[in-house]
Amino acid sequence: MNNDAIGVFDSGVGGLTAVKELNRLLPNEDIIFFGDTARIPYGSRSKETILKYARQDVNFLRHHKIKMIIAACGTVSSTIGSKPLVDDMPFTGVVLPAAQAACGATKNGRIGVIGTPATIRSGSFAKAIKNINPKAAVIGNACPLFVHLVENGYTQRDNKITKLAAEEYLTPIKNEGVDTLIMGCTHYPVIKDIIADFMGENVTLISSGEEAAKYAQVCLMENDMLTESTEKGHNTFYVSDSTELFEENAKHFLCHKVNGEVFSCNLEDLN
Ligand code: DGL
Repeated sequence: MNNDAIGVFDSGVGGLTAVKELNRLLPNEDIIFFGDTARIPYGSRSKETILKYARQDVNFLRHHKIKMIIAACGTVSSTIGSKPLVDDMPFTGVVLPAAQAACGATKNGRIGVIGTPATIRSGSFAKAIKNINPKAAVIGNACPLFVHLVENGYTQRDNKITKLAAEEYLTPIKNEGVDTLIMGCTHYPVIKDIIADFMGENVTLISSGEEAAKYAQVCLMENDMLTESTEKGHNTFYVSDSTELFEENAKHFLCHKVNGEVFSCNLEDLN
């Protein structure tokens, strides 16, 4: 048993898709979340910069009492490859959990992956899928505008601009006849309805953030590291930019008001 919190980080609010699932699966666990909202997006940056930011995010979480780290960011998870960011506590990114879920879901072996430019460039999802099922066909496409549309609240199902962007990005994947699509960026589930409407009901959508949360649950159970507490756990959110903007944006992800205290931290503290 271990009563420390689960540490979760992302470049922005997208990682809340993992927090929401953790709250559902493990309601007694405390969560410490860090969103690097001052430096989002990571997905259009170089590998070196993404790795530097990821290490700083991990160091920030390490200042708190945590027992596990989840990189709830497709960009970070893809850029680090299969190497964990820490070796003294359990760690997961979103790539392996999402790849496992997609391989379990596909019937025709044709899997689509959408993510940020850095995520698609890394080829990490394709590698993870092929490790599990060498015969799988993986069709990836970068969707650079999606994060901005989501961060700016263009998320309603009938939003014309987001629908147009979805058509542009998803057409090449749909044309390849995939039956499973990994949302390899943790921001995308917020526009899941738009993605689902375009892809059609026969395509299974995989939320990488949710799959990482499920993976973390299994990992903590197997290592006998779940909390002993029977009380409802606390969420504590830290962001590197305005707390007000975060709270406003977070509502779209959580589908309710932020359920925990929100603090701002200085980028200078992230060393
Ligand atoms: N949540 C990040 C990801 O999953 C957002 C993208 C970004 O920072 O560019 O990739």
